[in-house]
Amino acid sequence: MNENILERLHETFNASYGLPPAIVSRAPGRLEILGNHTDYNEGLVLGAAVTQSTYFAIAPNSSGNCRILSLGVEDTPAQIPLDKIHEKKDRDWKNYVKGVICEIRRRGGAIGGFDAAIASDVPLSAGMSSSAAIEVAACMALEKAFGLEFTPIERAKIGQASENNFVGANTGLLDQFCSVFGKADSLILCDFRQNKVLRNVPIPPGHSIIVVNSMVKHNLVESEYNERRKSCESVVAAIAKRDPSVKALRDLSTEKLDTFKDAVPLFDYRKARHVTGEDDRVLKAVELLDNGYLPAFGQLLFESHKSSRTNFENSCPELDYLVELAQSIPGCLGARLSGGGFGGISIHLVEENESENYMRRIKTAFRMKFGKDPQTIKCKAGDGAEWL
Ligand code: GLA
Repeated sequence: MNENILERLHETFNASYGLPPAIVSRAPGRLEILGNHTDYNEGLVLGAAVTQSTYFAIAPNSSGNCRILSLGVEDTPAQIPLDKIHEKKDRDWKNYVKGVICEIRRRGGAIGGFDAAIASDVPLSAGMSSSAAIEVAACMALEKAFGLEFTPIERAKIGQASENNFVGANTGLLDQFCSVFGKADSLILCDFRQNKVLRNVPIPPGHSIIVVNSMVKHNLVESEYNERRKSCESVVAAIAKRDPSVKALRDLSTEKLDTFKDAVPLFDYRKARHVTGEDDRVLKAVELLDNGYLPAFGQLLFESHKSSRTNFENSCPELDYLVELAQSIPGCLGARLSGGGFGGISIHLVEENESENYMRRIKTAFRMKFGKDPQTIKCKAGDGAEWL
């Protein structure tokens, strides 16, 4: 918990609205450790919530308006009449809150006027799901403020639905799911067929997860994310005609997929092969982690990146270079792009006592090649969303 942010949030709330918040919620960002683009294919992901979070403070008011501000982004409250909540503005962070309100309404929940303030230390547009953190924090704050009660999985789905229906990104459930179900010092093995955490997988001590941002802005709405999703769906549709038991890529092992190679366009086949490969790698990874085989686990991260680069084609030269560096700088066991791709972040599993040196070296090399500084963030797995 970032006490500093929380204190500033309370102060700003008081100063702006003349009263303390009635409720404060916290929802973290997330990291996809392994299992790329598997979530919307009903597959498996090893994910984690991070300790960086969005904090959402709220107090219901008796007007028909929502007033909302974001520390350091929009310090004076914006006023939105309740009957205009469904109106979207281009590239506005408030869309994430509006989308959540629309989804709560769609589920029959009544939301009245409120004053709200948010503060966050989740890096923006980096691939750590700052948007999911706002959505889940908003959902929990609104839920409590207006006497509603959702289950944890409903909260994740409300966030995802607002992303799909309001923001316009056809994303899966991973980001909001990790934000809700994350566990401190642990990875979570997520099954998106059952929408369940199968188990927690402790992170072996003595290692850090370092995020290195490629500084290439990814925007899931405009990127090829939706196109990749279509490729996966069209492979399933083509195979289902021959084998109706196949309902999602999760139903296909890589070997079984290969038997249908000639039935689908090569481009789509390679996208599907990435996904089935990722499901396999997640299962192997859990076994390796359980047995303490860290170097072999690290190799799976490298393999995942290679498959992103060659099969799924969601990497970029900056991410490829970061992973290439990871293979040559001492102390790194594995690295890969993480999240949607097409820019955004890479994650690096690094020996704890090498981590400062590693970040320094990777920064210098990247700056020399691309003329810009990559942001590096040492991450810790944190607990999922909560009311404070
Ligand atoms: C983004 C999406 C997730 C997931 C990942 C790729 O983060 O929001 O739903 O599909 O990309 O694994």
